[in-house]
Amino acid sequence: MDRIALEGGVPLKGDIPVSGAKNSAIKLMAASLLTSEPVRLTNMPRLADTRLLGRLLQRFGTQITETNGPDGHQETLLHTPEITSAFAPYDLVRQMRASFNVLGPLLARTGHAKVSLPGGCTIGARPVDLHLKALEALGAHIDMHEGYVFAQAPRGLKGAEIEFPFVSVGATEHALMAAALAHGTTVFKNAACEPEIVDLAECLNAMGAKISGAGTPTMVVEGVTSLKGTDWAVICDRIEAGTYALAGAAMPGSEVRLTKVRPELIGILLDKMREAGCEIETTADTVTIRRGQGRLKAVDITTEVYPGFATDLQAQFMALMTLAEGESTVRETIFENRFMHVPELGRLGANISVQHGGEAKVTGVEELRGAQVMATDLRASACLIIAGLAARGETVVNRVYHLDRGFENLEGKLSACGANIRRIKGNDPIEEE
Ligand code: EPU
Repeated sequence: MDRIALEGGVPLKGDIPVSGAKNSAIKLMAASLLTSEPVRLTNMPRLADTRLLGRLLQRFGTQITETNGPDGHQETLLHTPEITSAFAPYDLVRQMRASFNVLGPLLARTGHAKVSLPGGCTIGARPVDLHLKALEALGAHIDMHEGYVFAQAPRGLKGAEIEFPFVSVGATEHALMAAALAHGTTVFKNAACEPEIVDLAECLNAMGAKISGAGTPTMVVEGVTSLKGTDWAVICDRIEAGTYALAGAAMPGSEVRLTKVRPELIGILLDKMREAGCEIETTADTVTIRRGQGRLKAVDITTEVYPGFATDLQAQFMALMTLAEGESTVRETIFENRFMHVPELGRLGANISVQHGGEAKVTGVEELRGAQVMATDLRASACLIIAGLAARGETVVNRVYHLDRGFENLEGKLSACGANIRRIKGNDPIEEE
């Protein structure tokens, strides 16, 4: 397994281009199953997760061509003239939960699908009950045995009114893809409003779907009988952007400019960073973060659905707070077990106590010291990198395959700003998650 070694204490200075969003790219790839025509995705991030989903789609008959776009990003052409198999095996689904979301498109296009249940996850139980209830509401007949979901809708899916009992990004996206090809009208209530939902809905509309209200809790979908191909540029990755904004504030004297970004997508984070004492300037597509010489101030955060503070930035923000002056409270409300990074930050000298399941108190310390730490999930890995940038001495982050799932060229982007960071290649087999 690869590791990342970094020597902390160096202020970052330079530009960091933000890539396309992982959490949009994988849903857009799945959406390409809804049409027999080619879908060309530009601004694609080069990530382990997109490669993995590509492998799964190829099993269904998708032809995939990857090229380098003029802007240096990848372009991916996905073409599924025919679904040759509607079976998603456990071995592939367990490696990336979001691949469960192929169920809806396969079902909508072919009338049947067999997809493995994704199983548990380190950050929470993450059931898929809302996904399945939504598909049932659309007329699917669902059976479950031996860890697989068998879904059938031989005469097609039918529009319905679906009110989600609480907000789920994945269930909203999943049901949206299925409803696009259902007969009649579907009305979603309490739908997720994340920018990636808007990206998906707009891409589906470019494919001929009739979706209105994306980005609000009520979405209306007039089902159509078929969808066509399109060219679509993946939205910028607000979590990657937020992560580098925080990395840019880790060391006194840093000045980092994010480019190819939509600052409004990380508005709450930037407000919290200003409150902590960072100087932040935005233009339509850049964010500049400056950190003066003094210590930052402790600031409280509570994770919420969009546009609230993103759970996917909670660990990274906590890393910044470990060195702030005072005590900050970090509340996690989306996942029940998303403090796995706390003991690892403790190895660097952070003073954090998890009060009860969803709340951590971070008492800022004067200094972190480099140590060996272990990444437990994707965003926790990024948090350890940020803490390592601010720590004195060398930090080695183990299990960086988590990082490779969601951050394109992280070492390259940080070293271009002066970070002393390198990858140590390892040949150990990847452990099961
Ligand atoms: N939930 C259920 N039942 C369901 C679906 C969700 O109980 O059927 C629960 C979950 O267990 C969780 C809450 O509802 O406690 C919210 O989950 P949601 O469905 O919104 O999350 P998701 O779709 O599984 C996506 C992102 C996550 C991100 C969350 C929240 C992707 C591939 N994943 O997950 O991203 O944290 O939304 O914004 O889009 C990451 O990128 O590192 C990551 C974990």
